Amino acid sequence: MRRARGDTLCRVHNTRMADGRVPRAGRSPTLPDMTERESKTAVVTGAGSGIGRAVAVELSRAGWSVALAGRRPETLAQTAALVPEGASLAVRTDVSQPEDVAGLFAAAVERFGRVDLLFNNAGTFGPGGVPVDELPYEAWRHVVDTNLNGAFLCAQAAFRQMKEQDPQGGRIINNGSISAHTPRPLSVAYTATKHALTGLTKSLSLDGRPYRIAVGQIDIGNAATDMTRRMETGALQADGSVVPEPVMDVADVARTVRHMAELPLEANVQFATVLATAMPYVGRG
Ligand SMILES: NC(=O)c1ccc[n+]([C@@H]2O[C@H](COP(=O)([O-])OP(=O)(O)OC[C@H]3O[C@@H](n4cnc5c(N)ncnc54)[C@H](OP(=O)(O)O)[C@@H]3O)[C@@H](O)[C@H]2O)c1
Repeated sequence: MRRARGDTLCRVHNTRMADGRVPRAGRSPTLPDMTERESKTAVVTGAGSGIGRAVAVELSRAGWSVALAGRRPETLAQTAALVPEGASLAVRTDVSQPEDVAGLFAAAVERFGRVDLLFNNAGTFGPGGVPVDELPYEAWRHVVDTNLNGAFLCAQAAFRQMKEQDPQGGRIINNGSISAHTPRPLSVAYTATKHALTGLTKSLSLDGRPYRIAVGQIDIGNAATDMTRRMETGALQADGSVVPEPVMDVADVARTVRHMAELPLEANVQFATVLATAMPYVGRG
């Protein structure tokens, strides 16, 4: 039976105390004793694979509780299995659907009490390699709905929660891209949405100041994930050649996100660019 959108799929490793209450994840008997600062809650979208999974695992091992969001229950469950017991909650979510996003944040708050971090990561490259004059409108819409509208909906829900919770505040980290700065050939939808994310980051960063909401962006280049698998065989270059490109480990991205996440709210990494050192970018190639 299909679940209603935004339904909690499973309270993964959900530990209950003798009186039936669900312990705060930071207080789980299976986790090390944590300070208040360490036992914070993150919502990670696109948590079932790639960068989202690596970030969810990195944060949870550092003591964070994590709400894992994505459309595929089976991959969310695989991520949950990598996370310390009691520290995660998987919520099937299509970020392009407002009711799913509302359900995600409601479930996260119900389970963990508050939201300290949104890693706004879910995204799609869309049909790469299609000339702009041949790109079906539906394909354009799908990329915009996922990368931009989905990121907006999640950021809006996080902003609302962070503004009203006590203590007030939190952090949003948008996952941009090198494509937020400069395009690959034949990638108009991806490039346009990633450029738009930079505007989202700047606007939210400004509007979040009165409420102790810090907003930053990570712009990644060639982390080895499903999305970049084609890099190993060859990626289309601006001169028409197809050349394999260097990639880097997602763990290096995850450590960067954790650093951004664990700064005090008085400090913010506004933009971080993390890329495979030798990938074609700097020097126009
Ligand atoms: N890898 C890189 O080098 C690189 C570089 C720059 C930027 N990025 C960005 O990093 C993010 C993650 O990409 P990745 O490399 O880790 O690739 P990936 O493994 O393909 O991850 C994409 C994730 O987004 C989720 N997703 C897609 N559409 C969704 C939707 N409508 N609702 C909810 N979740 C959705 C997918 O899960 P479901 O299919 O289960 O929903 C998947 O877990 C993307 O925003 C991408 O643009 C990656």
